[in-house]
Order: sequence, then C-alpha cells, then structure tokens
Amino acid sequence: MKKSKLLFTLASVLIVASMVLGACATQTQEPVVTEPPAAGSELAVGIVLPTKDEPRWIQDETRFKEALTQQGYSVEILFSQGDPAKEKQNVETLISKGIKVLILCPHDGTAAAAAAEAARDAGVKVIAYDRLILDTDAVDYYVTFDSVAVGEAQAQYLVDQATGKGKGLPLYLYGGASSDNNAFLFFEGAWNVLQPKIADGTFVIKNSSEAVALQDKAKLTRDEMGRILGQITTNWDFNVAKNLAEANLTAVTAADKGEVFILAPNDGTARAIADAFAADTDVTKYYITGQDAEKASVQYIIDGKQSMTVLKDVRTLVADAIAAAVAFLEGKTPEQTHTYNNNVIDVPAKPSAVVTVTKDNVKAAIIDSGYYPASDFTGLE
Ligand code: BGC
Repeated sequence: MKKSKLLFTLASVLIVASMVLGACATQTQEPVVTEPPAAGSELAVGIVLPTKDEPRWIQDETRFKEALTQQGYSVEILFSQGDPAKEKQNVETLISKGIKVLILCPHDGTAAAAAAEAARDAGVKVIAYDRLILDTDAVDYYVTFDSVAVGEAQAQYLVDQATGKGKGLPLYLYGGASSDNNAFLFFEGAWNVLQPKIADGTFVIKNSSEAVALQDKAKLTRDEMGRILGQITTNWDFNVAKNLAEANLTAVTAADKGEVFILAPNDGTARAIADAFAADTDVTKYYITGQDAEKASVQYIIDGKQSMTVLKDVRTLVADAIAAAVAFLEGKTPEQTHTYNNNVIDVPAKPSAVVTVTKDNVKAAIIDSGYYPASDFTGLE
C-alpha cells in the first residue's frame, strides 16, 4: 500500500469499496484517503516538495496530510531530495498517474521550468508552491508568503536590538541559495531595512566585501544581490552555514566581535551559525534571526540560543494551495491579489502575512495559536 501510492481514480475505488464494507477508516499513510469527497470536489492532485532533509518541508508534508485527511481528499506527495532530475522524474510519475493539478515547490527555480512545461504539455495546471518556478510561462498560480516582508521582519528585529547601542555595531550577513528566488526576496527585504542603518554607521558589515562596496545603495539590482549572495550564501545547508560562519570568525579580529548582530536567512542555518558564534570566546553576545518556526528553533528561542524566527503558518499556505487546486479542478480561477514576475510572465498570487516570534511572544504565537503543543518543548514559562 505504502509503495503503490495511488491517485484519484484508484483512490475513488478504495473509497467506494470502503463505503460498501461500511469501513471508511481514517488512514495516515499515503495515499491520504478518508471520507468520500463531496460531489465535484475530488482532488486529482500531485505534490512535489524539495527535500526531506530540512524540517521546513516535513512541516509542509505534515500539514498537507492533516488538511487533506480532514477534507477527504486523495493526493500523492513526493520529495525531490535537492535534485532537479529527481524532481522532473517525480513530476513525470505524477503525470503518468493522471493528475490534473501539480503543486510544485522547486529545488532550483530555473531548472524546474522543464518539469512545469512537461506538466503543462500534459494539460496539467501548475501551482508553484512557496518558491517561484522561473523562466517559463508554464506556471498558472503561485502560493506564497510575503517573502520581502520576511526579510524586513528579520532586519527590523536587528535594528530594534541595536537601538541605543551607538554606532559601529558588527553585522554578519548570511543568505539562502542563489538557485531559490526566495533567497533574493528575503535579502531584498532585509536590505530595505538594514541599508539605512549601515549607511548611517550604526552597523558595520564584517563578512562581505561585495555588500560593503554596495552599502550606499538603497535598492540593489538582482545582479548586485547575486554578487553579495555569492559571498554569504549558506546554500540552505546547515554544514555550509556552519563552515562559513567559522571561516568568517577566523578571518576577523576580536575587535570585530563582542556584541554582534547576525542576519541568518532561516532556522536551520540560524542554529548552525548561532552554534559557531556561541563557541567563539570573543563573542560576548549575539542577536540572530531565522524563519520557519521549526521546532528545534522554537526550543532555541526558549533557551535564549536563537533570538527570533519568522512564523510562516504553513497551515495557511497549504489551505491556499488546496483552494487553488480545487478552483482549477472546477474550472475557476484562484483568488489573486499580486503578481510575481518569473522572467517570462507575471504569475498570479495571493501572498500571506508573516509573524515575528521572539521569547516574549513565543507562547502566544506558537502554543496558544495551536501551531505546536506545549508538550513538544521544555522550559516554557
Ligand atoms: C523557504 C524557506 C526555507 C528555505 C530553505 C525557502 O524557499 O521559503 O521557508 O527555509 O527555502 O528550505
């Protein structure tokens, strides 16, 4: 059953069979089949996520399964393990199983164009999920958070902590993978808020000569951001992040440390970078950002080892993706408030808001909101 994951047609047979047997049981394994879907609302959908190696995407898988189980839909979720060839193969597998809608979170935005085009050629609607698919017109919709707002929230946190601390505060910048369009949006947002505070001398960038060379420019081109990212990228990889942070700390003097401010792009890399800074005896205090509200980072925040995260409520993203898929299946158009240019077309989208989480509001934002149960953590007040 687990191996031979089935899609809508076969799932319907299962549903009918289970109704006949009077045994419409809740199943947690794939395919997610629970109650018979309401007439006309069946979901012939395939989902492809980038990797199982980051808790962020396991969050998405879990939330999809919860939502789909509740709603009685059947879908198949496949992971690409950071490999565009595997991603394309996953999409082809789903097409061959007859999906009508593809929800794809690309590992590499440009490389995913071929997979999106294969789906489009097969008459499948393509929804880019969280990360935009670039350089193709074969994208019908984009479900996303406001990624510029994520970077702005991270930078605003650092600026708030710097208030009243004078000038010349050491700033270390880290970014995501250049193959991910979001990495540019996060950095753009962070630069919007940090740049004036770099230009006025509040912060001094310690680990990117490209960023220093551009520090008087309020708006950067994609190419300029690419040059900075080339020096500060973590490639979304914990080990790359740790090694880069260690190399940066080795390259500077004790005078460049003390109380430091660190823009880390997400939670996984934030924990790796925070551990490297914590291990340096010349660092007396650090402020470090993150995003995703991964459980391990929520615990780091409670323990005072990570300063903040940006909660992107995956339940909202999943609900938006399912709503868009249902709209397409019913021949309708999903709700649109924005467009995102992917170098070929303006892709319709409805970006969702994000929430800053620190030790002060972690209980309200994460526990009281029902995002995670208190029992997953220790030391909560
Ligand atoms: C996502 C982040 C995630 C990062 C690394 C980005 O595209 O928006 O939530 O942390 O990729 O996987």
